[in-house]
Amino acid sequence: MSQRVRTAVFPVAGLGTRFLPATKAMPKEMLTVVDRPLIQYAVDEAREAGIEHFVFVTGRNKGVIEDHFDRQFELEATLESRNKTEALEELRKDLPSAGRTSFTRQQEPLGLGHAVWCARDIVGNQPFALLLPDMIFRAKPGVLRQMMDAYEETGGNVIGVEECDWNDVSSYGVVVRGEGEDRSFRINGMVEKPKRDEAPSNLFISGRYILQPEIFSLLAEQTKGAGGEIQLTDAMQTLMGQQRFTGVKYQGKVFDCGSKLGFLTANVVFALDREDIRQGFVQELRKLDLDDAI
Ligand code: UTP
Repeated sequence: MSQRVRTAVFPVAGLGTRFLPATKAMPKEMLTVVDRPLIQYAVDEAREAGIEHFVFVTGRNKGVIEDHFDRQFELEATLESRNKTEALEELRKDLPSAGRTSFTRQQEPLGLGHAVWCARDIVGNQPFALLLPDMIFRAKPGVLRQMMDAYEETGGNVIGVEECDWNDVSSYGVVVRGEGEDRSFRINGMVEKPKRDEAPSNLFISGRYILQPEIFSLLAEQTKGAGGEIQLTDAMQTLMGQQRFTGVKYQGKVFDCGSKLGFLTANVVFALDREDIRQGFVQELRKLDLDDAI
């Protein structure tokens, strides 16, 4: 039986340059989709998948993420005195239990691979989930939950993938599909940003992983790859020679909130999904003379 995945790593130390000036003093992961910060969506998804320990790899200017997952007594007292019980319950529900969060620092943003490596001592010798918080999903059950179900059968490493338009493959890391079923199959390789004609598939890696701890020693050995950063993909490619990698084509859709277009689209879609907002929002959209803008 595969070892249970209890720990999730959230790399949040990136500079978020595509979102400047918003991210000059504020972390990208605190940008809100409707009324929840991106990082909260990722934490909720992990919790739904049974994760018990939440590890954040932070950097400079990211202290507010730690505050977000702490109690705010003054605010709670004010809400209580104003009988705003619903808002209060909502705040408390979002918090991981005491002692179940860890924060470590990536002192320099040397890439995603390096950020993951910074969590090695906290994670230790156990499999872990990795969630890129700027990627959020419209999926039920959550994407990590769907991946955990596959992991329980296959063990090893599991990667969430989604189909993209063939014209967009050159923007993503895509996988080489091996034998298996439509929604769960072996991954035999990965290619970063391939040309359309050379892409092995249109299944792209969308920011959710279950990884075995052997990835840490491979990350440690690595020299800087493309763009002067330590790449997670390079280490995964090496690990693939030693361990099984399963691709899970989950049911759902990703929104890349690290890009302005993905972020704006997510706000519209998630607002329309919300019963308390939908009707009013549709009315406001109808009032806009979008024909002029388009
Ligand atoms: P991105 O590739 O989106 O990079 O990181 P970024 O620096 O955040 O944003 P841009 O490209 O400059 O706009 C994906 C995730 O990995 C984290 C980021 O915080 C983000 O959640 N990351 C990235 C790190 O923790 N450290 C790094 O060195 C790079």
